[in-house]
Amino acid sequence: AAKASNSMWAYKDFFIAGVGYTLFISAISVLFGFLLGAILALMRLSHNQFAHTIATAYIEFVRGTPLMVQLLFIYFGLGLIINIPALLSGIIAVALNSAAYVAEVIRSGVSSIAKGQTEASRSLGLSRSATMRYVIMPQAMKNIWPALGNEFVSLIKESSIVSVIGVKDLIYQSRIVQADTYRGVMPLVITMILYFIITFSLSSLMKVFERKMKHD
Ligand code: ARG
Repeated sequence: AAKASNSMWAYKDFFIAGVGYTLFISAISVLFGFLLGAILALMRLSHNQFAHTIATAYIEFVRGTPLMVQLLFIYFGLGLIINIPALLSGIIAVALNSAAYVAEVIRSGVSSIAKGQTEASRSLGLSRSATMRYVIMPQAMKNIWPALGNEFVSLIKESSIVSVIGVKDLIYQSRIVQADTYRGVMPLVITMILYFIITFSLSSLMKVFERKMKHD
């Protein structure tokens, strides 16, 4: 309920709700984006031509089209067939989009490990999957982790696009507060600060684990 006041404090509930939606959408999308991204990376790295082609096509297509169009397509396009609520459409779009970026992060991390590592491991008799698991991945993680952190920060910021289909995230709420208070700038300043607190906390947390990885 809007108060007869244009003080920002009176609108704190709007910002809190917005942060809630933004965190909720981001958390679920990070989880599914990561899982699908890991699968896509393995498919693209695999020697199975079919899996490789499917994964490559998906990754290139998703990275080559705007997230906004993907979101509108899921909401309005698929909406012609099945009715997907805005919030769910938003989560699906952001997760599917992030998966393509995560896949490339993992793939480039794995590719950065010298071929000799695989050859040595294989000639010692380790299977292809054991090589991946015990030799390549532990080394690749050092490259993958920081890039993954960047992707998670991007995802949080990019999730703001869901406001265009009416999901009540932080951006959506800031527009409501702007309209309600006739104040254009202050809601934006608060929104920026809130996004920054979220992303900075996350990247600081990722750095803690990054440092731990360097010590072993
Ligand atoms: N804003 C750009 C787009 O619309 C980049 C999306 C980046 N997504 C990501 N998960 N990093 O395509």
